[in-house]
This record gives sequence, C-alpha cells and structure tokens, in this order.
Amino acid sequence: MCENFSEKLIGLLNKDKTLKFTPHLTPVIDLNVFNIIDSTSNYLLNNIKQYQLNDNRIVVAAAEVQTKGRGRIGRPWHSDLGSGLTFSMLRRFENGASVLAGLSLVIGVAIVRVLRSFSVNQINLKWPNDILYDNSKLGGVLVELRGKMIGPADAVIGIGINFNLPSSIRSIIQQNATDLFQITGQHLDRNEIFGALLLELCSILSDFEAHGFSYFKDEWISYHAYHGKNVRLFLPYNSFVSGVVDGINDDGSICLLTSAGRNSYIVGDISMRLTD
Ligand code: BTN
Repeated sequence: MCENFSEKLIGLLNKDKTLKFTPHLTPVIDLNVFNIIDSTSNYLLNNIKQYQLNDNRIVVAAAEVQTKGRGRIGRPWHSDLGSGLTFSMLRRFENGASVLAGLSLVIGVAIVRVLRSFSVNQINLKWPNDILYDNSKLGGVLVELRGKMIGPADAVIGIGINFNLPSSIRSIIQQNATDLFQITGQHLDRNEIFGALLLELCSILSDFEAHGFSYFKDEWISYHAYHGKNVRLFLPYNSFVSGVVDGINDDGSICLLTSAGRNSYIVGDISMRLTD
C-alpha cells in the first residue's frame, strides 16, 4: 500500500508499466528494476557470465537510486529518487569489439530520436556522448566493453537522463546541467520514455550491427551542437588541442581543423569545450 502511494506520488519506475510501452519486446527483454543499487552498469558487468548462460534475451538494469553512479573519465553520475532515468543494457556483438567504434555515438542518436518523438526538440549531442539542451547537460552515455577484439564482445551501455534534478544534486554537479522538467515544464512519464528508449535502442543497435557507424554519420553530425565551432579538446596528460570541428569519421573519431592541419581524435579519455 505504501509502495502504491509513493509510486503514484512521484511516478516510480515500474517494470510492468515500462513493458506496456514495449509490447513486442516483452518476450525478449529481461528487465530488472532496482530501488537502490551501486550502479546499474556495475551490476551488469558483474553478472555478464550469468547472463551469457541465458538465452539471447536483452538484459536491462534500471534503478531509482544509484549510490555509485559512474560517468565518463572517472566522474560520478549524480541522481536521486525520481530525478532521472538511470539504466544500463547488456548487448552482445558477435563480430567483436574492433567493429564497435562509434557505438556510444549511435546511442546518442537513439536518445535524440526518442526525445524528439516526445516533442522535446532542440536536443543536441556533444562529441562523444553528451546529451545537451542549450549547451547544458541533459544526459550522458557510458559504454564499457568486455570480450574479444575479434570474436564475441559484450557491451554494457549505461544511460543517464535528468528528469527533475533537486537543488541538492544540481549544486554538486560540476557543469551546467538541465532536466526535462526545466525544458518542457512538464512531468514526463519516465516509464513511457524508458519504454520508447528500449524500443529505439534495440532497433538502432541492430542497424548499427548490420551497417556500422557510417550509416548514422550524417544524422549524428546534424545533431552535433559544436559542428563548425571553435573548440578545445582536452587530451590525456594535461594537453589540449584547439580547432574548428569539421565532421566525424566512420570510426567515430572527431575531425578538427587545427593550425597543424585536419586531424582526427578517437573516443577515449578526451573531453571537449567551446572556445570563443
Ligand atoms: C557521462 O556523461 O559521463 C556518462 C553518464 C552515464 C551514467 C549512467 S547512469 C546508468 C549507468 N550506470 C552508471 O553507473 N553509469 C551509467
């Protein structure tokens, strides 16, 4: 009874409600919704072996609260009860990790498509994997690979999207952050958007497996907030490079027109910022 009450009050994530929005996925999806967990990506990474023994179902872990949510470059991912959507998906790719360049970029494309389908327009991407609105971070993607370069590899795809950040969380996030409530003025149904994301992700991952990133390249560039802009790329070992963003390659590396010519930078521990 208490659970029903709080579920109504803040619209808790609910497995059955989410699956209602993914009717034809229901038989193939193994959806685990946790109230509290350290990290949905840790959960899947720690249980890859167990899930490999299963049939070919798509395993997804979602949580209301993560106590150790992780972002890229060793950063934490902050969220709180009802404040966002935090979930991870385990997906096997038979051709190995060597063909998975660009995977995290394709996930961004799926997220933009879904948000636009809910009339949340003007959502952009920032290479490699930030989801932006008006230059503030709405969400992010963290892809972690396990397995072989050639031969089967497992990808754990972690996604965080802010729905309604409390001020306590906002104050500890070390960059401009936004959420769907701030953007739309509406309390969007997390279960419905979660269902739509699962549908789009399953479909886009099949297309990605069949065609690679090049298939999505033009669409990705059309969403890139920094295309044609002056940026600074922060590289490992405290170095950086400045230049104008000039597209992206089939392997997901970003192209920059720099004083030393047109160079490409691969997805790694690199972050990008606008310059004047
Ligand atoms: C980033 O922008 O740095 C990536 C953020 C990814 C956060 C998600 S939330 C669900 C999953 N579990 C985690 O611990 N991290 C990812």
